[in-house]
Amino acid sequence: MLPCLFRRGITSARAPVPDRSQGRHIVASGRAEGRRRFQWEGRSKPVSPSPEKKLLKIVVLSGAGISAESGLPTFRGAGGLWNGVRAETLATPEAFADDPQRVLDFYNFRRTMVRDAEPNAAHRAVAALEQRHQVTVVTQNVDDLHERAGSTDVLHVHGEIMTARSSRTPSLKVAMQDRDIRLGDLAEDGAQLRPDVVWFGETVRHIDDSLDRIRAADRFLVVGTSLQVWPVADWVHHAVNAGERVIVAPELARCPDGFDWLRGNACEHVPRVAERWLDA
Ligand code: OAD
Repeated sequence: MLPCLFRRGITSARAPVPDRSQGRHIVASGRAEGRRRFQWEGRSKPVSPSPEKKLLKIVVLSGAGISAESGLPTFRGAGGLWNGVRAETLATPEAFADDPQRVLDFYNFRRTMVRDAEPNAAHRAVAALEQRHQVTVVTQNVDDLHERAGSTDVLHVHGEIMTARSSRTPSLKVAMQDRDIRLGDLAEDGAQLRPDVVWFGETVRHIDDSLDRIRAADRFLVVGTSLQVWPVADWVHHAVNAGERVIVAPELARCPDGFDWLRGNACEHVPRVAERWLDA
C-alpha cells in the first residue's frame, strides 16, 4: 500500500491506515540589516551564481503560516480554515464524491484568494537565499507564492491549487489561471476536473526527492507549520546532516528535538535567518 496523507483526527474507517514509518499519505494529528543590504526588497530577482559556486545546501520546509502575512488563512487555530469545519467534509476523495459542488466551491474560493495575494517578506527572503546557496523549498502549501517570490526549486508535496486535474487520470492536468472549476468541466479523458491538490488519504508527492534533500541539507529551516499532518510532520527528524535547524512559528505543541525555535511570525524571523545564512 502506498503511504498517504494522514491526519490523526480523521482516520475514519474510510481512511487508509497510516504507515508512519514510511508514510506517503496525508494524515493529520488531532492535536506547527544590518551589514548586508538585501536585494529582495523592491528589486528584481538577482542573478544566481552557477550551481558549482553555491555554498550550502539549504532546505526550507514551509506550511500555511508563511503565507498568513500575505492574507491567506492557515488551517488550524483562530481564523483557520478547519476551525469549526471538519476537514473530511472538504478535503477527501469521499467528500468530492458526496458533494462535488461544495468541494469545488471551497477550492475555487481559495484559488481566488491565492490569485489576489502577493508574496511577503518571508517568501522573498527564502528566494534570496539562492543568491549564494542551493535552496530547495519543500512546501505543504498549494499556493504559488514561493515561485512568485522567485524560488526556483519548489516541491509542492500537497499539490497546487492553480492547476486542475482529471478525477480519473491524475497526470491529465489543466492550468486554471483565472478560472473556477465547474461541475461539467471535463479533462481530456472525459472525467470531471478536480483541484490538483492532495486530499487526506491520497498519496503525498515528491517524497523521495524531499527526503533526499532534507537528509543532505547543511541548513534546515522549518516555517509556518503546526507539524500536525503526516507524513510531512515526521520529515523534520530527517535533517541529520544539518549544522543548523531552525523552526519559525508563533506557537507549537512541541518543538522538535535539535531545533532552535524562533517564536514569532515568518516576516519577522525568516529575513533575519536568511540574512545570517547569506553571510555564511
Ligand atoms: P496549520 O494551519 O496546521 O499550521 C499553521 C502554523 O502556522 C501554525 O502553527 C500557526 O501558529 C503558524 N502561523 C500562523 N501565522 C504565522 C505567521 N505569520 N508566521 C509563521 N507562522 C505562522 O498549517 P500546516 O501545518 O501547513 O492539508 O497544515 C498542514 C496541512 O494541513 C495543510 O497542507 C492542509 C491542512 O489540512 C490539506 O488540506 C490536505
